[in-house]
Amino acid sequence: MPVVSVFCKKGGVGKTTFLGYLAHYHAAKGQRVLILSADDQNSIFKIFGAEKFVGERDDNYFEHLLAGECQPNDIVFEARPDMYIIKTLNTDRLSLTLTLRRPQESKLRQLIDYFRRFFDYIFIDFPPSSSRLTEILLDLSDDILLVVGLDTLGLDGFINTIQYFTDSDIDLGKVRYIVPTGYHPIKLAPNTCLKKLKTQVKTYTPDAKIISPIKEKAVIRNLQEMGVSVFDEHQMPSKFHQKNRDEIKRDLLSTFSEIKI
Ligand SMILES: Nc1ncnc2c1ncn2[C@@H]1O[C@H](COP(=O)(O)OP(=O)(O)OP(=O)(O)O)[C@@H](O)[C@H]1O
Ligand SMILES: [Mg+2]
Repeated sequence: MPVVSVFCKKGGVGKTTFLGYLAHYHAAKGQRVLILSADDQNSIFKIFGAEKFVGERDDNYFEHLLAGECQPNDIVFEARPDMYIIKTLNTDRLSLTLTLRRPQESKLRQLIDYFRRFFDYIFIDFPPSSSRLTEILLDLSDDILLVVGLDTLGLDGFINTIQYFTDSDIDLGKVRYIVPTGYHPIKLAPNTCLKKLKTQVKTYTPDAKIISPIKEKAVIRNLQEMGVSVFDEHQMPSKFHQKNRDEIKRDLLSTFSEIKI
């Protein structure tokens, strides 16, 4: 089943947050979802209050499966019903291994194909830096979603990403959706950036669709601190937070309905 990558070479634009909620949205519908954290910060675990899986043991990372030291079941953590996450120990070291030991690349591809058999979706969360690991995973992805922050640095990040794809020979045609983040309906700057982004997308990724922008909502940080996903049936401690969370959920449901993957 499809491998969907969420990527951008700019840090802190909301890649992991977007991916976490998109994955949970599918899992909540009863589809089986696997998230591979190709980012050794493993921040995706935080969104679901599952950090305990990251620190508890040091022999159950993706690298251990790749090295043949354990079984797939040992490295897959259940973060929510139907939603599983794999953690990575050291992205740079893993990339070096893939560069120096070529057979490891086919092993990596085989592992992803193996997981495809058991899951309806495999989502991959990337760090903003690029490496051999990034190239291979983007290359084997069926669909790529580019997250672009709606400010000057965010737009630069989009151009850097296009440059990176071109330099690394990654097929830009796989970029199916552009996900603008940091939006505010009445602020001038993000609206100006959205217009510029539309022009750039027409030029560089004309086949990609720009989905409705994700709004900047401070309560998202609070939720992640609490390990609560917007798709959890969790009652928030105050009416204010509950109203905000419901609003975010409603917006995301509408945005996700635009994504056909
Ligand atoms: N829509 C949003 N509104 C407000 N804050 C948000 C939103 N989305 C994400 N954030 C916050 O912004 C910060 C960065 O988000 P996130 O970790 O998802 O970005 P990232 O692109 O994955 O970062 P990195 O490049 O470091 O992996 C986090 O503190 C997160 O809680
Ligand atoms: Mg991230």
